[in-house]
Amino acid sequence: MINKDQLLEALKPLIDPQYNKSITDLNLVRDIMIKEDSVSLSLIITIEDEAYKNQAKAAIQLSLKPLGVDQVHIRFRTITEYERNQLNEVLQPSADSQQQSNAPTPKTILGEDSKVKFIAVASGKGGVGKSTVTVNLAVALARQGKKVGIVDADIYGFSIPDMMGIEEQPQLADNSIIPVERYGVKVISMGFFVQDNAPVIWRGPMLGKMLRNFFHEVNWGDVEYILLDLPPGTGDVALDVHQMIPQSKEIIVTTPHATAAFVAARAGAMAVSTNHEILGIVENMSYYECKTCGSKDFIFGKGGGAKLAEDLHSELLAQIPLGAPENHISEIDYSPSVYKRDTTAGQIYLDVAANIIAKLER
Ligand SMILES: Nc1ncnc2c1ncn2[C@@H]1O[C@H](COP(=O)(O)OP(=O)(O)OP(=O)(O)O)[C@@H](O)[C@H]1O
Ligand SMILES: [Mg+2]
Repeated sequence: MINKDQLLEALKPLIDPQYNKSITDLNLVRDIMIKEDSVSLSLIITIEDEAYKNQAKAAIQLSLKPLGVDQVHIRFRTITEYERNQLNEVLQPSADSQQQSNAPTPKTILGEDSKVKFIAVASGKGGVGKSTVTVNLAVALARQGKKVGIVDADIYGFSIPDMMGIEEQPQLADNSIIPVERYGVKVISMGFFVQDNAPVIWRGPMLGKMLRNFFHEVNWGDVEYILLDLPPGTGDVALDVHQMIPQSKEIIVTTPHATAAFVAARAGAMAVSTNHEILGIVENMSYYECKTCGSKDFIFGKGGGAKLAEDLHSELLAQIPLGAPENHISEIDYSPSVYKRDTTAGQIYLDVAANIIAKLER
């Protein structure tokens, strides 16, 4: 059974959105009661926001899980005027949030001597197939014998568990979270910690903390590659990932249309400005191949991927045709989004995986 100090220590990384400081440093966690594997506590909230309450609840649950706490009962209470005045008196204006994000990284897969290869999958805009590419590239790397993990860094719009057909939850062992394994790929996602598909509407600092937990609180074992499925665009999470994992390489996904490639170039520019090597471009939904005659129809235009590769001085890794995997729900290892090995797309992903292995292990 944990004690109060351990509990407060575990909640220390959680940041109050109003004051940009740890909720435990601000003494916002009160009335702690610990009973075997369940905990009840009060959280003083400094802003009235239902979304924040939901997120705080998920964050507290995720932070306490590694300590063996299965049930957390949280009462929310709005800060009183008196308490707010007290806080304001104690707090001197400082650039504290900046300091916090620069805190030294504990020895984990993010540590300096870690051999894990990180590949972030980015795009300029949504819906171009980042998550599909992440999942299939991870599976293809695993099919080539690599030990692979996926961090679903799309905290608001997580989709990896559903796309891979994962129905189970991560287990706890030795105070850390064991990722769920599917097709030989270890997966961690916000989706595992949000109940009933509740929407995630989080403020900046909280996102970073949650992402950090995905690395520090998760037992990744002897994983060699970690793919990060980024949210679309160049927002907070993409920036957090760039800062948190400076050694990460990047793959940029675009559709073949010229404007899509133009927007994707922004994600590329972010990678370049933060010194992240771009491994290459994946052009998704490149063409439709007629099943009977084999001719290719370039419905979404042509050349976007090649143009982007040229602009970013990078390589066009693949052009993936349109077509959903023909998996059937009755299959034992059903997934909506993983292409089988012997399909056209399956083979293309295997080629991309081989190319990446050659690049990163030369
Ligand atoms: N090559 C393809 N052929 C047909 N459908 C595809 C292809 N690639 C992706 N899709 C479908 O397009 C939709 C968007 O793909 P996906 O979720 O991978 O994109 P995303 O870039 O991760 O989106 P978001 O920005 O919302 O996270 C999904 O329904 C996916 O199944
Ligand atoms: Mg996605």
